[in-house]
Amino acid sequence: FVHQLADESVGMEEILVSPLRLEPESAFVLPPKLFGAGRKNSAGLDLEVATQRAALQTAFDNLTVPSVPEFDAKQAASAYATSATSYKIWSKAPVAERAALLRQSADALEHQMPRFCAILVKEAFKTWGDAVSEVREAVDFLRFYADEAERIMAPVALPGPTGETNELRLSARGVWVCISPWNFPLAIFMGQVAAALATGNTVLAKPAEQTPFVALEAVRLLHSVGVPEAAVQLLHGPGETVGAALVALPGIAGVVFTGSTPVARTINRALAAKDGPIVPLIAETGGINAMLVDSTALPEQVVDAVVQSAFRSAGQRCSALRLLCVHEAIADHVIEMVQGAAKELVLGNTAEWATDVGPVIDKEAFDGIQKHIQRLHSTAKPLLAQSAPARAAANLIAPQAFELKQVSDVAQEIFGPVLHIVRWSGDPQAVIEQINALGYGLTLGIQTRIDSRAHALAAAAHIGNVYINRNIIGAVVGVQPFGGEGLSGTGPKAGGPHYLYRFCAEQTLTVNT
Ligand code: SER
Repeated sequence: FVHQLADESVGMEEILVSPLRLEPESAFVLPPKLFGAGRKNSAGLDLEVATQRAALQTAFDNLTVPSVPEFDAKQAASAYATSATSYKIWSKAPVAERAALLRQSADALEHQMPRFCAILVKEAFKTWGDAVSEVREAVDFLRFYADEAERIMAPVALPGPTGETNELRLSARGVWVCISPWNFPLAIFMGQVAAALATGNTVLAKPAEQTPFVALEAVRLLHSVGVPEAAVQLLHGPGETVGAALVALPGIAGVVFTGSTPVARTINRALAAKDGPIVPLIAETGGINAMLVDSTALPEQVVDAVVQSAFRSAGQRCSALRLLCVHEAIADHVIEMVQGAAKELVLGNTAEWATDVGPVIDKEAFDGIQKHIQRLHSTAKPLLAQSAPARAAANLIAPQAFELKQVSDVAQEIFGPVLHIVRWSGDPQAVIEQINALGYGLTLGIQTRIDSRAHALAAAAHIGNVYINRNIIGAVVGVQPFGGEGLSGTGPKAGGPHYLYRFCAEQTLTVNT
């Protein structure tokens, strides 16, 4: 995970100077210190950065994102049959062989990093910095699940009386349906698929409708290193038809889904309505993620964390900050600094290197967020109500902030750069209870210089990922296992040590010797 960690630390240094501004260093494929300092090009850019940038730019300039043919939902049964046949062979392969193929895929993905970054910028409107982080995350998932599968799939000997041996063995479950979102169209796609494949399952993968090409390229990459074509099939198309047809297939062994809470419910209902075996669902959904700031918090640190968490990736992360609960003693100061920092962000087309905040994914998302903003104008106090610059990229929304009276006024998750702010005083535990009462449980930030308070608040929160005195985005595979509870998902945590167990069946073998 060295790459991604290095990226995070580069980011933090930058951010102390200018919140969120992605200087050239953030598009590093490798950290600068590996190359020695001081070698600059004529524009004053570190030579290695210039080289990396040139590779990314060339990949971008040479790339055309083609349309990907849609899968005919009527063919779902035959795709399943192919997958089920492949499962018989793939699941029997030694785990080390499957893990080796995933590691080769990781190497190939690293090798093709400029091309995959370019696809993410062009198809998903990622900034360059976000694109680089995402490819690294996908690489991390491949390597992490390869290691994890080898770790957990080794049989475990258990104690027993004389004359008897006991052993616990894990095996694959069958054909999994993997349904992934557009906001991490490579990392989450690859994470789901790698988890299923590593444990010996085969996959019917349905990517988000907005981002099929990066998924197609990811599947081609897996095939190119030797993962059988029948073991992972890409079935692109609308959720309502293709997704629904896959979930309805009689023989599937499980569904792993990342997306909205309402769609997770629809899938859950569809699975529950089927006859036959009970089919497990792993769902990772969204959150009304909060940050609780007390009067001892460091305002500069708070502002940095707020601006990154709420506005980076145009707020289109499930981990993103939606609700800032700031103690009234420092609220005016913090709000003023957030306004100032947010106005420094560069808004525009993400193909530009300097862009901090790009457009949201599509017109439908844009319209939904605008509608929410209009509602807030009549129900809340605007604190940051900018409009996108003239001649800006389509579907660009400038970061917004509104003050509400109480936590419960934030009724729904809005997937864009819109921050809700609430002032509080009195008992911070009461604020945590109000946050718990929203029903989501994905990410939470706590900003305080009282250590015992931070830990007590974290313990009281029904939240999957709690971050103290930092931003609340960018969980690193194997370092911050990621996933929520309540309306935010079923668990287990992606990138964590328990994730792969859900893709496995367990058998206890007792032998009378
Ligand atoms: N894993 C991502 C993050 O932590 C979620 O969207 O930001």
